[in-house]
Amino acid sequence: MKDQKCRLSATTLTIFILGLICILSIFPANTAIAVADSGGSLSTYIIQVRKPTDKHFATSEDLDALYRSFLPTTATSSNQEQRMVHSYRHVVSGFAAKLTAEEAKDIRNRDGVFGEGLPPPPAKWKGKCIFNDTSCNNKLIGARSFAYGGIYPPTDDVGHGTHTASTAAGAFVKNASALGNAKGTAAGIAPLAHLAIYQVCGISGCLEADILAGLDAAIEDGVDVISLSVGGDSYPFFQDAIATGSFAAIQKGIFVSSSAGNMGPYNYSLSNEAPWLLNVGASTIDRRIKATARLGNGKEFDGETVYQPQDFDSTLLPLVDPARNGENSSAFCFPGSLKDRSDLKGKVVVCSVGSGVARVDKGQEVKDAGGAAMILVNSPLEGATTLADKHVLPAVHVGYDAGREIKSYLSTTSAPKATILLKGTDIGSSVAPVVASFSSRGPNYQSQGILKPDIIGPGVNILAAWPVSLDNSTDDKHSFNVISGTSMSCPHLSGVAALLKSAHPDWSPAAIKSAIITTASTSDTKGQPILDQLLTRVSFTTSNRKITFLTSLIVKEKITCSSTGRIPDYQLNYPSISLSFESSVTKFNVTRRVRNVGPANSSYKVVTDPITGLNSIGVYPSNLEFTKVNETASFSVDFTRNKTATPPLAQGAITWVSAKHSVRIPVAVVF
Ligand SMILES: *[C@@H]1O[C@H](CO)[C@@H](O)[C@H](O)[C@H]1NC(C)=O
Ligand SMILES: *[C@@H]1O[C@H](CO)[C@@H](O)[C@H](O)[C@H]1NC(C)=O
Ligand SMILES: *[C@@H]1O[C@H](CO)[C@@H](O)[C@H](O)[C@H]1NC(C)=O
Ligand SMILES: *[C@@H]1O[C@H](CO)[C@@H](O)[C@H](O)[C@H]1NC(C)=O
Ligand SMILES: *[C@@H]1O[C@H](CO)[C@@H](O)[C@H](O)[C@H]1NC(C)=O
Ligand SMILES: *[C@@H]1O[C@H](CO)[C@@H](O)[C@H](O)[C@H]1NC(C)=O
Ligand SMILES: *[C@@H]1O[C@H](CO)[C@@H](O)[C@H](O)[C@H]1NC(C)=O
Ligand SMILES: *[C@@H]1O[C@H](CO)[C@@H](O)[C@H](O)[C@H]1NC(C)=O
Ligand SMILES: *[C@@H]1O[C@H](CO)[C@@H](O)[C@H](O)[C@H]1NC(C)=O
Repeated sequence: MKDQKCRLSATTLTIFILGLICILSIFPANTAIAVADSGGSLSTYIIQVRKPTDKHFATSEDLDALYRSFLPTTATSSNQEQRMVHSYRHVVSGFAAKLTAEEAKDIRNRDGVFGEGLPPPPAKWKGKCIFNDTSCNNKLIGARSFAYGGIYPPTDDVGHGTHTASTAAGAFVKNASALGNAKGTAAGIAPLAHLAIYQVCGISGCLEADILAGLDAAIEDGVDVISLSVGGDSYPFFQDAIATGSFAAIQKGIFVSSSAGNMGPYNYSLSNEAPWLLNVGASTIDRRIKATARLGNGKEFDGETVYQPQDFDSTLLPLVDPARNGENSSAFCFPGSLKDRSDLKGKVVVCSVGSGVARVDKGQEVKDAGGAAMILVNSPLEGATTLADKHVLPAVHVGYDAGREIKSYLSTTSAPKATILLKGTDIGSSVAPVVASFSSRGPNYQSQGILKPDIIGPGVNILAAWPVSLDNSTDDKHSFNVISGTSMSCPHLSGVAALLKSAHPDWSPAAIKSAIITTASTSDTKGQPILDQLLTRVSFTTSNRKITFLTSLIVKEKITCSSTGRIPDYQLNYPSISLSFESSVTKFNVTRRVRNVGPANSSYKVVTDPITGLNSIGVYPSNLEFTKVNETASFSVDFTRNKTATPPLAQGAITWVSAKHSVRIPVAVVF
């Protein structure tokens, strides 16, 4: 979270996955109510079953037998045939069956969507819950702490670790919400993954020694994916605990996803720049927990807050800017700065974001001064990124452009007025994803020839599990909170990596990363190039083409030094290309090697997006023909600078397109 300058976060967690069979979900189909049978009435339910990886389930008959094994044992075999409605092959892994509500509940309980219903961890698993092994179950298969000398149990005092863990691998929880907002069924990206938690940070930050110890234990325990919502300043890789520890993990086939950092919008502000890490930036989603600032002149500006008291009546009240005589602290509603300010009583107070004060504390200051409501406005650096916080009074956080208009109205009107309209959850009306202003930016400081961040993921106003309830209810078991940061985007991609690893157990971390990067979409919900909330008016120049979420070519990453001698970083076999023409270089010849993981006979043709500042891009060969699975091929790309056109930055892509697949290799250029 930006205001907390929280680059170091509370817990590191690790995900462990396996491909056994268990119930994914079971829900009533909304059509076809069947006839009644012994007692309860039958309804058609769709039962999703985790796709079996075992070879014994290769044929349709085997699958049918497996699916039938889930039906109630009380049903006779002829009765069973009538109960089975459909046995699915492609659309979902599972079947539809006629069941009574009671039977459906039994199936759900027997194999479980939640914790205890998961299969036990596989034989290779060596981890456990240190301090209290009975707190482990089939969902949480390991928990230990390396913070504070490891002398306390790994309890989550902050909430950050619980939130990131549930984003990656949380089970399905119905009726999840934050103070009634964003309500619905919550689930992590990989709801059936096992979880092991390694606490490496405490209240005051993280020690490199503890991070290394956590990574060491995770490798020893036998995890498959590490989700590292932790980061620090940029250091040479060999002096960076996360980089060195993760390098060891990668060599054991463990995928590591990490946060880009919350130090945007500054250039060169990344954490976790090593080529073997997946570096994840943060973007918005199309859900807002909406509130609107309405001014006396009728103008309205949308923003967000999670605290939406129903008894706030939204009548216009006097609007006031607390800054006096160029006094800075009151403009930021700094704690103590509005003390003794009787002129704020009953008014709507404008506060600026920043100055190291938590947004919620600014609201507390306004409330203490007797203010009725708060409009929180961004500086240019926060752009249009607005955060839904649990404020202590009716409030709305608006973007920089809105804040400027509100301040201008305030300073040019004789009796300015405003109010806040609390509008609840809005899904689908805002364009997303948009890059969050706080998301750290490249270029890669340590290795400019490796493009970082690798990808963006949802990281603004993310609802996930929280260790204490927000409304002081006693039900902490099902409590959720909305928070923001690249700590939130990283576990989304950890979950994606777990799903890919489950579907392709033989894929290396590099292959999984390549699949993620080369299939990522570059367009938003309107089909337009993804924008940046720092400057929502300025768009990135990328291709608009729709990219399927399928891949069949994998760029094989191979880190070779001794065998091939030194190679420049841009020649590392990475699934993206990053070039710097800064030092009077005019030409680059970049090579990449790819492996066919699609159909044996596959034919790909290259499509290049033009890049401003470069002459036309030559790719040799321009066709790749494969006749075998796992067959490899190489291609080289010539980039030549066009001296007449010199933007500071430009981007494009080289895309290999077959009848079925589209594999996009992003290209970024600094001049
Ligand atoms: C261990 O964990 C279990 C399950 O969470 C809990 O019921 C029990 O009280 C814990 N025991 C101790 C000694 O903390
Ligand atoms: C859902 O949560 C709300 C509180 O947000 C509660 O009032 C309601 O009873 C819950 N409904 C169910 C079915 O649990
Ligand atoms: C980052 O660099 C670009 C290109 O030089 C520049 O246009 C932009 O203003 C820089 N961003 C910041 C926040 O300094
Ligand atoms: C705070 O003071 C600095 C330096 O005097 C000034 O540049 C800045 O605009 C002030 N900020 C606000 C929000 O008034
Ligand atoms: C929850 O409890 C705290 C501490 O007692 C109190 O300050 C706060 O107002 C309560 N919040 C709600 C939503 O009731
Ligand atoms: C680029 O490099 C490849 C591989 O080393 C080589 O085959 C090709 O001839 C080079 N192209 C140019 C224009 O130098
Ligand atoms: C691939 O194409 C070749 C030549 O057309 C053919 O002999 C071969 O059977 C094909 N392989 C597969 C797996 O379709
Ligand atoms: C170089 O850029 C200029 C200006 O955009 C353009 O007119 C020219 O065609 C480009 N040259 C080549 C060789 O692409
Ligand atoms: C492709 O390579 C992977 C990893 O080396 C291996 O597990 C798989 O069996 C290979 N597939 C074929 C068809 O050779």
